[in-house]
Amino acid sequence: MAPKTPSPSKPVGFTTRELSVRTLADFERFFSQVHGCACVVYYFGRHLPPVANTAGERAEILGAPDRARRHFPHRELMRTREQSAVSDLVRRGRADGILVYAAGDPVGWCQFARVEGPPTNTGDLAPLWRINCFTTRMDYRRQGVATTALKSAVAAIRKRGGGWVEARPMAFPHYDPTLPKLRRTYGWRSPEAADYIRDNWPSKEIPGIGRVNACQVTNKTMGHMGTMSMFEKLGFAVVGLDEERSSNDPRYPWHFVLMRLKV
Ligand SMILES: CC(C)(COP(=O)(O)OP(=O)(O)OC[C@H]1O[C@@H](n2cnc3c(N)ncnc32)[C@H](O)[C@@H]1OP(=O)(O)O)[C@@H](O)C(=O)NCCC(=O)NCCS
Repeated sequence: MAPKTPSPSKPVGFTTRELSVRTLADFERFFSQVHGCACVVYYFGRHLPPVANTAGERAEILGAPDRARRHFPHRELMRTREQSAVSDLVRRGRADGILVYAAGDPVGWCQFARVEGPPTNTGDLAPLWRINCFTTRMDYRRQGVATTALKSAVAAIRKRGGGWVEARPMAFPHYDPTLPKLRRTYGWRSPEAADYIRDNWPSKEIPGIGRVNACQVTNKTMGHMGTMSMFEKLGFAVVGLDEERSSNDPRYPWHFVLMRLKV
């Protein structure tokens, strides 16, 4: 990964810029400093195919990983391919996104996209836009970067003519250090972990939707889809459970919601 500029000791104001040929170098710099697929999965609807299917085959083609030197040839190659695939879309004016800057350095990202294809059977409510993914550089997490990116994404959608905007964030985040300990001790699929979740996991009632469970996060990071509270602040309303992402498996009964806003 590229070296990071040291984080300032006191908080700085964040600024935002849209993804374009003018900010492409910042996009590439940002995605050389964080994990993730540079949103290939949202821009293209799927991940790029791996160079080979097994670790052995990859090592034969690209050389073996060297953990001590943090050298992972296949990961590095995938990163280059992903960046180059998205950069190509940007040059053709086919990729939207927001970069968040702290003192001129790109530290956050939000991907949004116009929904392709004919309107769905939701009729008038068919979303025209989707806000899909957030990523914040590790040393800037929990300081409002993703919230800033979201605000700017909504403004950018408005500038492009607006319409219905859809998102599928987690219902709410919950960090519980006991659960990973239980999973390490008894196993990920153990009844002990499932019983613990059944007896301790927080849930809350969303009017008109029903009871929803929290999603597991750590105290440092959480899933790329953001939280319901981030979207509520901008006026998004919950219109249902996100059936695709939500799970009722007792080992991970996390719930995600479908939210919409007309801008
Ligand atoms: C999801 C993510 C972008 C959040 O970014 P962030 O800049 O830290 O978010 P913010 O500081 O704007 O916080 C947004 C909200 O989430 C909450 N939050 C953020 N991280 C949290 C955590 N680890 N635990 C609990 N709540 C958390 C904040 O308290 C805030 O809540 P509020 O709206 O109720 O005030 C960040 O955790 C991240 O980058 N995760 C990895 C995502 C990833 O894998 N991306 C690559 C995808 S291929």
